[in-house]
Amino acid sequence: MFTFRELALPVVAAPMAGGPSTPELVAAVSSVGGFGFLAAGYLTAAQLAADIARTRTLTDAPFGVNLFVPQASVAKIAELEAYRLELLPEAARYGVELPALAHAETAPTEQSAANAQSATTGVDDDDWDAKLAVLEASGPAVVSFTFGLPPIAVVARLHTAGIVVVATVTSVAEAAQAINVGVDVLCAQGPGAGGHRGTFDPAATLATQPLERLLDSLVALTDLPIIAAGGLSSSADVHRVLSHGAVAAQAGTAFLQSPEAGTKAAHRAALDSAEFVDTAVTRAFSGRAARGLVNRFLQAHAAAPLGYPEVNRLTAPLRAAAAAAGDPHGMALWAGTGHRLVRARPAAEITRMLAR
Ligand SMILES: Cc1cc2nc3c(=O)[nH]c(=O)nc-3n(C[C@H](O)[C@H](O)[C@H](O)COP(=O)(O)O)c2cc1C
Repeated sequence: MFTFRELALPVVAAPMAGGPSTPELVAAVSSVGGFGFLAAGYLTAAQLAADIARTRTLTDAPFGVNLFVPQASVAKIAELEAYRLELLPEAARYGVELPALAHAETAPTEQSAANAQSATTGVDDDDWDAKLAVLEASGPAVVSFTFGLPPIAVVARLHTAGIVVVATVTSVAEAAQAINVGVDVLCAQGPGAGGHRGTFDPAATLATQPLERLLDSLVALTDLPIIAAGGLSSSADVHRVLSHGAVAAQAGTAFLQSPEAGTKAAHRAALDSAEFVDTAVTRAFSGRAARGLVNRFLQAHAAAPLGYPEVNRLTAPLRAAAAAAGDPHGMALWAGTGHRLVRARPAAEITRMLAR
C-alpha cells in the first residue's frame, strides 16, 4: 500500500472543492514526487469518476480523493429564515432569486414539536454511497475524509480495495476518535487553514491550538503518520512542521494561483491584490466555519447562523452571480493565513519550492 513516509517531496496539494482542485493540478504535484488530492465535495459520483479517469490519463503517480462526511443538520429554522431575509438586499444587488428554504412550506406537526427548532431538510449526503462505490471500483491510492469520520465498515471496505484512509482532525479528541475507527493517517488541520475547518461537530467551539502544538500532541498520542495543514506557504513552514513530527505538509492556498488550479478569476485577482490583506473565519457563505479573505460580504454578514449545507445552498446564486460579474466582494475567497506569500507559478515549481 502507498505510504506518505516514502514521498520523494513531502508536499501534499490539499483537496479544494468548488473548482480549484483539477486533475491537472493533482497530476502536476504527484508527477514531481509530491502528492495531489482530487476534491469530491459538491461533485456528483459521475463527475468524480470522470476526474479520476482524467487524472490517470495525465499521470501514473499515486494520488488521493477527499470526501465530505455527511452530517445531520444542526440548523435552526428561525435562524435560517432570518438569514434569508437578511440576504434579500444581496439578491437584489446581484439580480438573483434566493432559493426557498426546503422546510419553508412544512408546518411543524405535533410530533415534530421537539424538533421544531431544527431544520427538517435532513442530511444532504453529497452522493456518499455512489462516491464510495466509485472509489472502491477505481482504487485511488488514498481516500481522505473531512467534517467527521467514516463508519468503521467504510474504512474496512476501502482497506479491502487497497486504499489508504486519512482522517482530517483539528484536535487531539478528534484524533483519538479517528484512531478508533482504524484510519491509517491523520491530517492535522491547524487554525490558519484556508477553506472550511474540518471540525467534526459544526456547533463545537473551534480549536485554537497552533498547528505545531497540535502536532506535538498527536505525536505523543500515536505512531500513525501525520500530515500537517494550515497556513503553510514557504519551505520554512514545511521544515517547521516536519521538525514537529509531520511526514508531509499539505498546502491549499499555496496552489490557488497555479495555472493548473481551477480557481475563479476574481478569486485569483483578489489573492494578488493589496486590497485584501486579512483573512477571517466566517459562516456567512456556507453556514460552517471557513477561513477566507475579508471582503464586503464576509463583513456584512458576520453573524450568519450555523447551518451547513442549508446556508451554502442559500448563498449559491449570490456567489455565482458575483463570480460571473468578477466581483470579489460577493464570493467566498477561501484563503489561509499564509496567502500573502502565494505566487502564480506552475504547480510543479510550487511543490519543489515548498520542499526545498
Ligand atoms: C479553496 C479551498 C477549498 C478547500 N476545500 C477542501 C475540501 O474540499 N476538502 C478538504 O478536506 N479540505 C479543503 N480545504 C482545506 C484544505 O484541505 C487544507 O486544510 C487547507 O487548504 C490548508 O491551509 P492553507 O490553505 O493555508 O494551505 C480547502 C481549502 C481551500 C483554500
